[in-house]
Amino acid sequence: MTTDDILREMGLGPIWRLRTAPAAMPAEELIAPAPLAPDPLPQTAPALEAAALLSAVAWDELAATVAACRQCRLCETRKQAVLGVGDVNADWLFVGEGPGAEEDQRGEPFVGQAGKLLDNMLAAIGLKRGRDVYIANAVKCRPPENRTPAPEEAAACRPYLERQIELIRPKLIVALGRPAAQTLLGMEVKIAAARGKLFDYRGIPLIVTYHPAYLLRTLPDKAKAWEDLCFMRRTMQAQKGG
Ligand code: URA
Repeated sequence: MTTDDILREMGLGPIWRLRTAPAAMPAEELIAPAPLAPDPLPQTAPALEAAALLSAVAWDELAATVAACRQCRLCETRKQAVLGVGDVNADWLFVGEGPGAEEDQRGEPFVGQAGKLLDNMLAAIGLKRGRDVYIANAVKCRPPENRTPAPEEAAACRPYLERQIELIRPKLIVALGRPAAQTLLGMEVKIAAARGKLFDYRGIPLIVTYHPAYLLRTLPDKAKAWEDLCFMRRTMQAQKGG
C-alpha cells in the first residue's frame, strides 16, 4: 500500500474540509511553561551568547548566519541548512522537528510526504503555505537517518528559531510533535497530555499537536489531529478578536 493509498483511506486527500462551524473559544488559561523535569534544553552560555548576538539581525543576516552555521555536528552531514519558508508577517507559525532528505536537498521545510499532509491540514483550516503561514523547524540541518535531534543540537539551533519568532511575531505557534514542543517550551512534553491545551511562548499562544509524519504512520490518531486543527482555528479567531 502506498502513502497515497493510505492518505485516501484516511480521507486526507485532496483536502480535509471543515464541516461544522467552529465553536466559540472556551475561556482557557494560558499555561506558562513550568519545567516538569530538568529543562531538556538548558540555556548554555554559547546559546545565550548566540541569542544576544542575533537579537538585532534582520532576515538576510539571519539567513546567511544559518547557512554558514557550524554550531553543532549536523553541519557536517547536511547538504544545506533549511531556514524556513513562508510569509514573514504571518499570523500562523508551524514548527516541525528538522529537515528530512528531501528538505535537505531542496532547502525548504516539509516538501516530502509529511509536507503533503501538512499542506492538507493547512487547507482544512483555510490556510495555504506561504499565505499568512510560516513553516520552520526546531533544527535547521538534517539529522542523519532522520533521527530525532539530540538535545545539544536543538539547544544550539534554538536561538535561530527564537529570532525567527521575534521577527515574524505570529499570533499563534503550532508545535508539530514532541521535539518542536520541547524546544519551544523548554520542558518535557508528552503530546497526548499536551494536546488541547494552550501554552505560552513569551506571550504568544502555543498549541501542540502530532507531527504529520506520525499521523502517516498512526491512522487512529487522525481524528485527534482534526480536533487539534479545530482548536487552532478557534484560538486564532479569539486572538483576532472573535
Ligand atoms: N519533518 C519535519 O519535522 N520537518 C520537515 O521539514 C520535514 C519533515
